[in-house]
Amino acid sequence: MTGFLALTIAPAQAMEGDPEAGALAFRPCMTCHVTEAQPESSRAGPSLHGIAGRRAAALDGVRYSDALRAAGAAGLVWDETNFTAYVQDPVGFLRAYLGEPRARGLMLVRVPSPEAARDIFAYLATR
Ligand code: HEC
Repeated sequence: MTGFLALTIAPAQAMEGDPEAGALAFRPCMTCHVTEAQPESSRAGPSLHGIAGRRAAALDGVRYSDALRAAGAAGLVWDETNFTAYVQDPVGFLRAYLGEPRARGLMLVRVPSPEAARDIFAYLATR
């Protein structure tokens, strides 16, 4: 009986992302994203400073895609669930979110697993 209880509790704890693993998994993202508050960054993507809880396409002076802007205007906020889904398939996520099968986003990189995506989110929540 106690063994059964332990098994049912474990998966809930496994949901938490690990910020240290996330810092490593974030390295490839640094080609295009800074984590400092630097909206005028010269990299291809927007600064991800304070991204946890931020509305999509919220920074001034960034050339976002029309699709990401439309999602932000429709209320898309980067909580853990949305962030995790987006970074695993950015274009597919925007198409599903907008109900627009031909919407085009500008980010094409994909994080390979939900675990890595959650770790990156936990890391970015500290930035
Ligand atoms: C080759 C460049 C490039 C790489 C590498 C890249 N991104 Fe992006 N990212 C972009 C661009 C460009 C956008 C803007 C997308 C749009 O406007 O549709 C973006 C947007 C985002 C956004 C939404 C930002 C906002 O203000 O709403 C998040 C979150 C994000 N990227 C996370 C990541 C993560 C995590 C990684 C690493 C796994 C990563 N990106 C790797 C180019 C990149």
